[in-house]
Amino acid sequence: KRRQHIFKVVLLGESAVGKSSIVTRFARDQFDQYKESTIGAAFVTKEVVLDEANTANLHIWDTAGQERYKSLAPMYYRNAAAAVVVYDITQTASFERAKSWIKELQRQAEPSIVICLAGNKTDLADRRTVSREEGSGYAATAGLLFFETSAQSGENVGDLFVSLAQKIPWS
Ligand code: GTP
Ligand code: MG
Repeated sequence: KRRQHIFKVVLLGESAVGKSSIVTRFARDQFDQYKESTIGAAFVTKEVVLDEANTANLHIWDTAGQERYKSLAPMYYRNAAAAVVVYDITQTASFERAKSWIKELQRQAEPSIVICLAGNKTDLADRRTVSREEGSGYAATAGLLFFETSAQSGENVGDLFVSLAQKIPWS
């Protein structure tokens, strides 16, 4: 029997980048083309195996990206062990918004917070406006994990959460 660690994880990013879709792909292996915009925030839990002796029970807060909910975000990233900041590779403005979330986290969240930058919607490669190098270059400079994902195909979604969970320190 493995020891279970509970980690609080928050998703942040502009509306419609696919935060809820990433969580639904990860937790239930489903995708909804007509997903409704999140109101306030949604809570989901999911267990991942860390190693032979440990599992992580991820307590995931999927925040609402619409501007009117912006002031709620600190409640969700406060005490979070990890954050996933999502942008849409076809929307350059969402990449700029992701950078501003990262700066806010680096100023206001726990200094030990593990942050992953995620460029979502890789299935829409023909509409890409943010290159993989721009994303990974920014992430490297800021000291973040980086993945490009597709909630639609499932590409890299599981790997993102497992890598994130494995970087969270515990004792
Ligand atoms: P808010 O809750 O408003 O903050 O938005 P969100 O970031 O949770 O986005 P959501 O998951 O609701 O997805 C927005 C739209 O993008 C939906 O129509 C999804 O079906 C679509 N979408 C999400 N991820 C992907 C993806 O990887 N590929 C494609 N093609 N569409 C996606
Ligand atoms: Mg949502």
